[in-house]
Amino acid sequence: MQICKTPADLKVLNAQNIGFVPTMGALHAGHLSLIERAKAENAFVVVSIFVNPTQFGMNEDFSQYPRPLEKDLDLCAKAGVNAVFTPQVQTLYPFKEAISLNPPKDLLGFEADLRPGHFSGVLQVVLKLFNLVRPTKAYFGQKDAQQLLILQRMANDLFLPVEVIACPTLRDSDGLALSSRNTYLSPEQRELALKIPKALNTIKEAYETGITQGTNLLALGQEVLSPLEVQYLALVNRQLQPLERVEPNNSLILTAIKVGTTRLLDNLWL
Ligand code: PAJ
Repeated sequence: MQICKTPADLKVLNAQNIGFVPTMGALHAGHLSLIERAKAENAFVVVSIFVNPTQFGMNEDFSQYPRPLEKDLDLCAKAGVNAVFTPQVQTLYPFKEAISLNPPKDLLGFEADLRPGHFSGVLQVVLKLFNLVRPTKAYFGQKDAQQLLILQRMANDLFLPVEVIACPTLRDSDGLALSSRNTYLSPEQRELALKIPKALNTIKEAYETGITQGTNLLALGQEVLSPLEVQYLALVNRQLQPLERVEPNNSLILTAIKVGTTRLLDNLWL
């Protein structure tokens, strides 16, 4: 496995048909499922590990974000990754940037309201990474549903020569969606966090018994989530626009919950 730290290191890879998995490291089985899918569909797989400062707000966890680089490299090697790109901040951001990317207005809301500037930072770093790695296909998790949609829109709107591929959310055996931020949870908080998949499943079961009105379904979820801080719990369509009523094959429950100081995202298709 090759370790690339600079754009020049990537150039000498000279690979065609690259499958790309961008990450911020602290890899878990969710990331590994993206890597596996990329391995199955591409001759050459590149993983990036970069904690991107421009997508973190002033009071967010940029400095505390876990960075177990040696362990991550080991996991990548064992997963059969061909090259890992681990740039320094100065390498990706050598100058004050002149161009900024803003997510399409119709996609604002939810994370964008709570984390101003977050998606601009995500678009900025992913476009840089796409231009450096030049992948044919890039793999992203459905767990970050808004991020996935915004990246698909960037690729389409700008005619980027890359296919953005959506991958399903991987969960722990107890149902909690895997996330690098789960490491912040104490054992008691982790137990409380299980209310999140429980609430999503309660909503899905209620829908399956015939309840389709959004407010009724969401009220059932809110009940399960109490006393956690619900930042949003919404019924949305494939384009992440709010729905009043479930539309078959076009409805997602989208949520962000605070457990202590940790924000956890999850979602479930109905
Ligand atoms: P990160 O949080 O490290 O996630 C990297 C990729 O793994 C994302 O596409 C994310 O949706 C996916 N992922 C996370 N948890 C998952 C799970 N439980 N199941 C399946 N996939 C999962 O998302 C980012 O990094 C950054 O914003 C990035 C796109 C790398 C830009 O900096």
